[in-house]
Amino acid sequence: MDKRLDEVFSLFEGKEEELIPILQKTQDALGFLSNDSLKEIAQYTNVPASSVYGVATFYAQFRFKPKGETHILVCRGTACHVKGVPRIVEEIENQLGIKEGETSADLKYSIESVACIGACSLAPCAMVNGKVEANLTPKKIQKLFKAKV
Ligand code: FES
Repeated sequence: MDKRLDEVFSLFEGKEEELIPILQKTQDALGFLSNDSLKEIAQYTNVPASSVYGVATFYAQFRFKPKGETHILVCRGTACHVKGVPRIVEEIENQLGIKEGETSADLKYSIESVACIGACSLAPCAMVNGKVEANLTPKKIQKLFKAKV
């Protein structure tokens, strides 16, 4: 078993009601929930693997693929939509060669979306490694990501 998972399990007692905090800590430790980690969690908590998977997929906070070195969180909220975020997403996808929800094979980039990043006055916007990129235009995207791929 992954050593990091061992460390996570040492914080708990393996009770069914600890499932969500265990999933959270596992994701913190691994960066995502791998298939193997979900199976280990199922064994540890004595909850069927299908139920563990069901709980994990129910919550938007859990991810099942590793993040890229550069993680792009695109805002899909109304303000950003009205200000043209679909065109921005298209440009990011073109620049990086991956689709929303994907991580590049070399793990350099990942694109995800969120309902609102809380910076509506700066729409259309996205977060790149936690930093808000405001008033995006296809040109800005080209500048941000060109020569990076
Ligand atoms: S809708 Fe995009 S930041 Fe709120």
